[in-house]
Amino acid sequence: MKVIIPISEMREICQKARQENKTIAFVPTMGALHEGHLALFREGRKKADLLIVSIFVNPTQFNSSEDYQKYPRQMEPDLKKCRDEKVDFVFTPDKKEIFSKKEKDIPLPPVALPLEGQLRPGHFAGVVMIVHKLFQIIQPHIAVFGLKDFQQVRVIEEIVKSQKLNVKILPHPIVRNPEGLALSSRNQRLSPAGLKKALQIYKALQEAQTLFEKGERSPAKLKDRITQELEYGSLKIDSVAIVDAQSLEKIKNIQHPTLVAIAAFVEGVRLIDNCVLK
Ligand code: PAJ
Repeated sequence: MKVIIPISEMREICQKARQENKTIAFVPTMGALHEGHLALFREGRKKADLLIVSIFVNPTQFNSSEDYQKYPRQMEPDLKKCRDEKVDFVFTPDKKEIFSKKEKDIPLPPVALPLEGQLRPGHFAGVVMIVHKLFQIIQPHIAVFGLKDFQQVRVIEEIVKSQKLNVKILPHPIVRNPEGLALSSRNQRLSPAGLKKALQIYKALQEAQTLFEKGERSPAKLKDRITQELEYGSLKIDSVAIVDAQSLEKIKNIQHPTLVAIAAFVEGVRLIDNCVLK
C-alpha cells in the first residue's frame, strides 16, 4: 500500500493503471475509519483491480468551524486499517493544494435542495466540489458510497448524469453495530450513555417500518410515531422527513419506495440515519 499526497502523482498512477487496462475502484472518505467504511472498501476490492481510498476532511462541507475542528482525525490507525484491507493507494491530499485552483462551479441537482440541503446550507456544494475534484484526479471506473448518507448518494448519482462522468456509483447498505446503531465517525464523540441514547434513532426507524408493514401509508402518522419515539428517548430532533426515495420530494401517500430520514442531536453531536420503505 502506498500513501500519496501530491495530486500530480495520484493522477499519474491512475492514468498508468488505465493504460494498462486495470479497473479502478474508489472510496472517498474523511477518515476516522470504522467498519462502515471498511465494508465499502471490501465492495470496491471485489469489483476492480485497484482500490484507491481518499482520506480528506473537507472543510467546505462543514457548517460550523467548530464541527470541522472537532471532526476526529487519526491518520496512523486509519492507514493500518487500509493496509489490513489491502487498499492499493491512500490519497491524502494537502488542503492547500486541493484548494489552490478554483474549478468551475457545478450546478446542484434538485435532490440536493431539500432535507440536509436545507438544514445544512452549503453542505452539498462542498461535497459536490470535492467529490468532483477527486473524480477528475482519479477517474475511477467505480465509486462506492454508503447509504447512511442516502441523499449524498442521490446527489452524486445526479452529478454523474449531468456532468456525463464515466463512473459507476455503487451504493452500499448501512452498516450498524450489533444493537442497530448506524456506525459513524461522530459516534466517537458520544459517552457510553450517549451511545445508548442514540439507539433510539434506530428504534424509531424500526417502529416506522413495522407500522408500514402493518399497512400504514400516511407519512404524517409515521412521522408522529417517530417523533414520539425520539422524544421518549429525550433526543433533540433536528428533522424527521418522509419523502420519495428517488426525487426526495414530499409525498401525501406512500405508494413508491419512500425514504424515512432522521437527524437528531445526542450530547450535542448531530447524528443521521434512515431506512427505505418498499
Ligand atoms: P465519510 O463520512 O467519511 O463517509 C465516507 C463514506 O462512508 C460515505 O459514502 C458514507 O456514506 C460511508 N459510510 C459512513 N458510515 C457508514 C455506515 N455506517 N454504513 C455504510 N456506509 C457508511 O461521506 C463523506 O465522508 C464525505 O461527504 C465525502 C464523500 C468523503 C466527501 O468529502
